[in-house]
Amino acid sequence: MRTVIISGASSGIGEATAERFARAGDHVVNLDIAPPRKDAPGEWIEADVSDWAAVGSAVTRVYDERGRLDVVIANAGISVRNGVLELTEEQARRTTSVNLLGVLALWQAAARVMVGRKEGVLLATASVNGLRGYPFYADYNATKAGVAALCRTFAMELSPYVRAACVSPGAVLTPMQLAEYTETMLAETNRQIPAGRHAAPSEIAEAFFYLASPAASFLTGQELVIDGGETAGATTSAFGRGGLS
Ligand SMILES: NC(=O)c1ccc[n+]([C@@H]2O[C@H](COP(=O)([O-])OP(=O)(O)OC[C@H]3O[C@@H](n4cnc5c(N)ncnc54)[C@H](O)[C@@H]3O)[C@@H](O)[C@H]2O)c1
Repeated sequence: MRTVIISGASSGIGEATAERFARAGDHVVNLDIAPPRKDAPGEWIEADVSDWAAVGSAVTRVYDERGRLDVVIANAGISVRNGVLELTEEQARRTTSVNLLGVLALWQAAARVMVGRKEGVLLATASVNGLRGYPFYADYNATKAGVAALCRTFAMELSPYVRAACVSPGAVLTPMQLAEYTETMLAETNRQIPAGRHAAPSEIAEAFFYLASPAASFLTGQELVIDGGETAGATTSAFGRGGLS
């Protein structure tokens, strides 16, 4: 039974990922500021990933109690829609503290344990927003590009003992997406995705499960894009998104 820490597992992608690992018999620890569903698997540690001391204590506590730490998935993230002219310093700092520095804090604390054990897998949720200039999400986009950069750097420094990788989802139907998008925006997003729909959180969970598994033992320092084809092609020369109806 592996010990798996997942941040932001009280909702959306993290919740589905916790369920996937638990179904395989792993012990899952959810670091989240919000409580999980009553029937959620594993344990919940209330922690804000932007608080480095809290993250460090949580990792130490899990390792002391379980005696092992196999997989850490830094998934907690926030996004608030703002134009570059309106974005406040406070909002930009909060987005960065959670989405980028929160990943760094959790990975660093976990890496210290994993390097000592000479094994472990560090994973994170980045986003296709780190690959292109999606309007109204400047701070969010920058943090997600930063997560991919962290992933490459951790892989370089910690190989061959610890692997690091991130998943970059396109549009996923989660509470985060529903909070930000109206029905019209969701439909328009679907229209622009070759797959014609949002991903289900479980489709991202499967990617994490693969990346954490021995099947991915030669994979490190990479970003796995799961976006229904969203970033595969160009739009300027096309009328419609192509594909079959
Ligand atoms: N939904 C999408 O379309 C999409 C696409 C690409 C990437 N992502 C990324 O996936 C990750 C999960 O997003 P989601 O859509 O499942 O969102 P969500 O809002 O459903 O879940 C996010 C979880 O993170 C927790 N959280 C937020 N701030 C936290 C903090 N400071 N400390 C600890 N926990 C915190 C929340 O309480 C919540 O349980 C995020 O990093 C997000 O940027 C989402």
